[in-house]
Amino acid sequence: MTVPVDTVLINNAFDHQAIRSQFPILDQQLDDNPLCYLDTAATSQKPVCVIEAMTDYYQHDNANVHRAAHQLSARATASYEHVRNQVKQFINASRTEEVIFTHGTTESINMVAAGLSKQLKANDIILVDSAAHHANLVPWQQLAKNTGAVIKPIPLNEHLSIDINAYSALLSLKPKLVAISHVTNALGSVNDVSQLVELAQQVGALTLVDGAQAIAHIDVDVQQINCDFYVFSGHKMYGPTGVGILYGRYAELDKLEPLLTGGEMIKSVSFDATTFGELPNKLEAGTPAISAVIGLGAAISFINGLPKAELLAHEQSLLSYLQDELRNLGDITLIGATAHNIGVVAFNLAQEHHQDVGILLDQQGIAVRCGHHCAMPLMQQLNIKGCCRASIGLYTNKQDIDLFITALGNVKELLL
Ligand SMILES: Cc1ncc(COP(=O)(O)O)c(C=O)c1O
Repeated sequence: MTVPVDTVLINNAFDHQAIRSQFPILDQQLDDNPLCYLDTAATSQKPVCVIEAMTDYYQHDNANVHRAAHQLSARATASYEHVRNQVKQFINASRTEEVIFTHGTTESINMVAAGLSKQLKANDIILVDSAAHHANLVPWQQLAKNTGAVIKPIPLNEHLSIDINAYSALLSLKPKLVAISHVTNALGSVNDVSQLVELAQQVGALTLVDGAQAIAHIDVDVQQINCDFYVFSGHKMYGPTGVGILYGRYAELDKLEPLLTGGEMIKSVSFDATTFGELPNKLEAGTPAISAVIGLGAAISFINGLPKAELLAHEQSLLSYLQDELRNLGDITLIGATAHNIGVVAFNLAQEHHQDVGILLDQQGIAVRCGHHCAMPLMQQLNIKGCCRASIGLYTNKQDIDLFITALGNVKELLL
């Protein structure tokens, strides 16, 4: 969707500045420059309500969950379980037990990969999105190493999202598992995950969708996508670091071998044998990141209170404005940029090294990410060592883009 930036920002039906002002970190100078934060895909900034919810928990309710008879523990447990219900509703899971708190997307995928170790065998095929973040590749490589399974990358089309024809051809190999990105972190390209999941199911494959870059920008409905597993991190959706979600279809989640064992996940323990408890506890061994879970709950309430359609239109109009301004600047190679991409623009300046560009931007107060973006196989396919990535969030405004383009123009003058 492309909406002219001025249409949204001038005729806005909502007060964008009021939303932006909820993020106190953005109101600061770096040396003499205003901070221009264009690294939301790495981690989003946090609104006041998230910061306050975590402080409030530590000031009033701090106790371990699920353990004690006392009131503080009861309050902490109630808040913690309330967030599980919030997440269930946020992604439209059918049961709260299908929502597992982890420490982030990386841990969630590792839990699935380790959990499937008894279900895969030698020569079973795992299809992996070839634009995947390393978090959605390396755990499958470990699983393959441990079981003798074989990984096959799913080729990309000219827009650098999954090539449906190549994918369909690979499905004829009857893979056991398909692991795909909803939105790619390096490029912001979007996959039609409902269609990809449906095709995978026709050949009986399990499906995992990495939603780390989608969850803050798209309404995610796991029942509509119909995947077996959907994973994401709190810190990319205006929540704190240290908490993530593993959603799993109950029957498949229940079959996973627990990656972590110990306290809280058991039914009974003796020196001879242990029996595991039920979901979700079975997959939440040890003390969880309670304050981070509570912060995630505050982030969900915050997002739910925003005018979602307007914000999405705002983000999409900013992204196309950003793409256009980069094209107008000249000597810029945009990588995989389409009108449908979400949140991210990847680019290089002529033949200049991305790190040099990033450092010179930083000196002007602009925060972007430069490197391989944890997607080295994608960089190899593109035949580049890395690139710069500017990424936006719901607080980004037109002034951020203008500051960035002016600063990049200065970098261009200096280097070319
Ligand atoms: C698409 C994608 N998957 C996985 C991850 C890993 O997330 P985390 O570091 O929060 O575990 C990221 C982080 O950038 C990502 O963008």
